[in-house]
Amino acid sequence: MNFRKMPWFDYGGRFSPLKTAVLIALFIPGLWTAAMFALDRLGARPVTEAIHEFGDWTIRLIFISLVISPARVVLQWPRLLDVRRMIGVAACVYVLIHLSLYTADEVFNLGTVASEIVLRIYLTIGFTALTGLCVLAVTSTDGWQRRLGARRWQKLHRIIYVIGVLAVIHFCMQSKLDEWEPTVMAGIFFWLMACRVVSWRLGRGKLPLWSVASLSLASGVLTALGEAFYFWLAMGAPFVLVLQANLSLDTGLRPSWVVFVSTFAVVLLGWTRATFWPGQARRLRPA
Ligand code: HEM
Repeated sequence: MNFRKMPWFDYGGRFSPLKTAVLIALFIPGLWTAAMFALDRLGARPVTEAIHEFGDWTIRLIFISLVISPARVVLQWPRLLDVRRMIGVAACVYVLIHLSLYTADEVFNLGTVASEIVLRIYLTIGFTALTGLCVLAVTSTDGWQRRLGARRWQKLHRIIYVIGVLAVIHFCMQSKLDEWEPTVMAGIFFWLMACRVVSWRLGRGKLPLWSVASLSLASGVLTALGEAFYFWLAMGAPFVLVLQANLSLDTGLRPSWVVFVSTFAVVLLGWTRATFWPGQARRLRPA
């Protein structure tokens, strides 16, 4: 066994504090939920709550893996790429625990689980995303990269974008009343995809701060419009009034604001990096 391949070493076989910190961080939500479960602190329906926790962390980890590409350009931090594989594999582990908990909730009746997956569209969508994540996790190794060749491997791993869409749809469909977090996730997903489109159009390694900032603003406004449209369609609520409420801060922090502020934080970090540590920026290698 080659110990230099352990997740806390970088590709050059040196100990990597960044990879070690991320590896430890990836365990925390799962261990925390397990501890709360063991201490009976997950409320009246602990298994359902644990399903939700693992589902939430799966989608968050998918998004964190997707933000690595724009963040490494904006922050001029190429080493960020070293942790992407680890985060993707963690997303797969979390979703497998999510599925296992759901199976436990169905008292391990695999027939019921299978028929529910076929009959309930949000579960069918979730299962398709899970299958995709498993394919990506299995083929994420150096061996599979060599076997498939760089081009085919990259093409295959682009299914992460489809998985992202499916994850957002699954999240939106399962939340019966509270659409707050799914709306935030949909807005952030739009920003992530828009950053990629801009980066592809400008060429590898180019993502000017002004473009990321404009996309933050556009994502916030589109989230407000989307939410107003949803309330109008689903409940007949007046579109303009809901839009006004979404754009103002009078009714608290609406999803549109959360999308804008969280994505704009990346711009601020990039600006801080470029202004105060310009000499630290290193040359980016292709993703
Ligand atoms: C990549 C795939 C998946 C992702 C990202 C995902 C994510 C999520 C998220 C974010 C939630 C909502 C948690 C909350 O409201 O706090 C959720 C709920 C749920 N998911 Fe998934 N999930 C995936 C796959 C699956 C699969 C394969 C199944 C089972 C076949 C499943 C079953 C459920 C169930 C039963 C709920 C709770 C619904 C309820 O409480 O009524 N998910 N999932």
